This record gives sequence, structure tokens and C-alpha cells, in this order.
Amino acid sequence: MVTAMVTGGTSGIGAAFARALAKRGDSLVLVARDQARLDETASSLATEFGIAVETVSADLSNRDDVVRVAALLERETNPIEILVNNAGFGVHTALLAIDTTPHERAFDVMCRTVLMLGASAGRTMRTRGAGTIINVSSTSGYITMGSYSAIKAWVTSYTEGLAVELRGSGVQVTALCPGWVHTEFHSRAGIRESSIPGFLWIDVDRLVDDALRDAEKGKVISIPSARFKFLMFFARHLPRTTIRAISGRISSSRSH
Ligand SMILES: NC(=O)c1ccc[n+]([C@@H]2O[C@H](COP(=O)([O-])OP(=O)(O)OC[C@H]3O[C@@H](n4cnc5c(N)ncnc54)[C@H](OP(=O)(O)O)[C@@H]3O)[C@@H](O)[C@H]2O)c1
Repeated sequence: MVTAMVTGGTSGIGAAFARALAKRGDSLVLVARDQARLDETASSLATEFGIAVETVSADLSNRDDVVRVAALLERETNPIEILVNNAGFGVHTALLAIDTTPHERAFDVMCRTVLMLGASAGRTMRTRGAGTIINVSSTSGYITMGSYSAIKAWVTSYTEGLAVELRGSGVQVTALCPGWVHTEFHSRAGIRESSIPGFLWIDVDRLVDDALRDAEKGKVISIPSARFKFLMFFARHLPRTTIRAISGRISSSRSH
């Protein structure tokens, strides 16, 4: 039993990670913006599984908040042995939009935060000779759907780089690349869920179980489900012109 930090641990994939880790007896540090929802999640997990849950209200698009969260990863008492860098959101905004704020916030939450928390966790875990960092990336990183794909391509590539730096240190680093999962992600981003065929949706608990198993096996990239392993094999081998054409069709089909 260890202590795990899950960013975005109050909803969707992060909440499923929190539950799976609580179920096996791990203590939790949950990070998100909405304090009421953090309290509600913490109390329900603590009651159901008898574990300790700390909550940290932080806006991970704000650098000062990220510094505050990073400091927790370096503490010596009650050390954090697992980091799930999960908080994020879809970016359904044109690259040519006059207001680039949504893209900038997405960089801040899904790149800068992942980098800063990964550095703090990686350094501390390397000193202890043990630990696990799971960065929630996406299969979108293999295609070309605007800044979200570019950000997730960065997350996967960054994770591989971190795994290289931490090789032999006892610290496991894994990029989780989910396909489509029913969470609040699509409604928050204004993406029409009905545009995505039913057979492509992955169960969130199954996704998290597969990711934790892959991390335990030492996999650096985890693509849960046979369907998405198969699709991503083609995404890696098809000509980029074909990938761009497919990406354009998916983008135009899912707008409201
Ligand atoms: N759902 C999918 O189909 C899918 C597929 C591939 C990858 N992903 C990735 O999975 C991760 C989790 O997404 P999800 O689908 O579980 O979405 P979700 O249900 O909308 O959950 C997002 C979580 O992140 C937190 N969060 C969002 N912005 C934040 C900020 N600025 N600061 C701190 N916390 C923030 C939210 O809490 P607050 O709002 O309280 O802050 C919430 O707990 C993301 O990185 C996403 O890119 C999702």
C-alpha cells in the first residue's frame, strides 16, 4: 500500500484511477479545481475503502498552483509513490481562432503541468529508487486533430524521454493512450458523442485496470483494448496524407 497523487481525480478517467487505487488500499492525494467535488469524492472513497484521502484545490493552468502541487511530490513525510498526471480537457477550437486562450490553457494544463510534476516526482522517486509515473496521453496523439493531437503527441514523446532518463532507477514511467471513453470530456469540450461509433468506446474501469497492469509490467506506452492497439498499428504505418484525411473527416463529423 502506497500513496498516490491523481490530478483530475474527481471525474472520468482520474476518478476511475482514484477508485482502482483506493480499492487496493492505497492512500490518495486528489487534485482538481472544484473543492466541493473534491470533498465529496474524498469522503465517498474514504468511507467505502477505509483509506486516507487528501485533497488539493489547484488550477493547473496557473503556474503558482502547479508549483504548490509539485512541492507535495517532494515531501519526505508520507511520500507520494505514484503520480497519475491525468487532468486535462478537449480543445475543440480552430487553430486559426483569433482568441488562442483555449490552446494556451491546454498547453499549460496538459504540457507544462505534466513536465513540472514529472520533474518533481521523477527526481524524488529516483532518490528513493522506486515509484511510478503514469501520464494520461491519448490515441489522438497519433493523428492530426488540431492542438489537442499535438499536445498528446508531446505527452507520449515526453514520457518516452522521461523513461530514458529514468532507466535503471527503479522508477516506472508509462504513457496511457486511451481511445474514446465516456466521461465529462466531450460535453465540456462541446464535442458531439453520437458522431463516434458505439464499438469504439472503451469502459473506463477496464481502461484503468489495463493501464495499471501495463505499468506494473514495465510498459512505457499503454494502449488499452485490442481495437485501439490494432487501429494505432495502422495509424503508425499508414502514409501521413491518409492520416490527415482521416483526421479531417473525424473533426468535421463531431462538430455540433
Ligand atoms: N474521455 C476520453 O475520451 C479521453 C480520451 C483520451 C484521453 N483523455 C484524457 O484523459 C484525461 C482525463 O479526461 P476525462 O475524459 O476523464 O475528462 P473529465 O471527465 O472532464 O475530467 C477532467 C478532470 O480534470 C480536472 N481538471 C480539468 N481542468 C483542470 C485544471 N485547469 N486544473 C485542475 N484540474 C483540472 C477536472 O476537475 P475540475 O473541473 O474540478 O478542475 C476533472 O477532475 C485528460 O488528460 C484527457 O485529455 C480522455
